[in-house]
Amino acid sequence: MSEFGRESALALLEQWTKGESLRKHGMAVSVCTEAYGVMEAARLGLTGAEAEAFAEPYACAGLLHDMDYERHPSLEEHPFVGVAHLRELGWPESVLHAILAHADYSGVGRDSHLDKALFACDELAGFLTACALVKPSKSILEVEVAGVKKKMKDKAFARAVKREDITGGAELLGVPLEEHLENCLRAMQARAEELGLVGSAVVG
Ligand SMILES: [Fe+2]
Repeated sequence: MSEFGRESALALLEQWTKGESLRKHGMAVSVCTEAYGVMEAARLGLTGAEAEAFAEPYACAGLLHDMDYERHPSLEEHPFVGVAHLRELGWPESVLHAILAHADYSGVGRDSHLDKALFACDELAGFLTACALVKPSKSILEVEVAGVKKKMKDKAFARAVKREDITGGAELLGVPLEEHLENCLRAMQARAEELGLVGSAVVG
């Protein structure tokens, strides 16, 4: 296992975050962001171990981006405390940059593809989770893109989720909104079990 790979990131998330919902948020954002890493690797013509190595920082940035939020939720501390700790441990700068850039107020720009992907997936992963949890089955497997689009227009639904970050994130990535919704929904559905979002849907 790589010292700066998924398993280390997950261990850090669990060490810093005791709350189940924030842990699950990190995992959901990770799954979506990683999907963009996999797509970008393919676009660059990478395969096999090279493609995997390319996508791993995407997965890690997702897992780690709110790692310090439970202990240090203030704008002065989040995500700076977490990033300082990760830097001390030797985590790659590309991951740290993306974590800083996901916070609007950090002053760090969203420059790399990873920076953009993390930002684009953060609010959307939360929104898709909310879409699953209002289903009677509480299952992501029963969520459809059309329903997600409808709920984005319903201001009363999951009102804490900033719609403009979802649309702005898609724009930043250069992906049409519908495709962005689809990409993240499919990524979360493919790993629903791991995310605890199978609910009571009948699988198979
Ligand atoms: Fe987040």
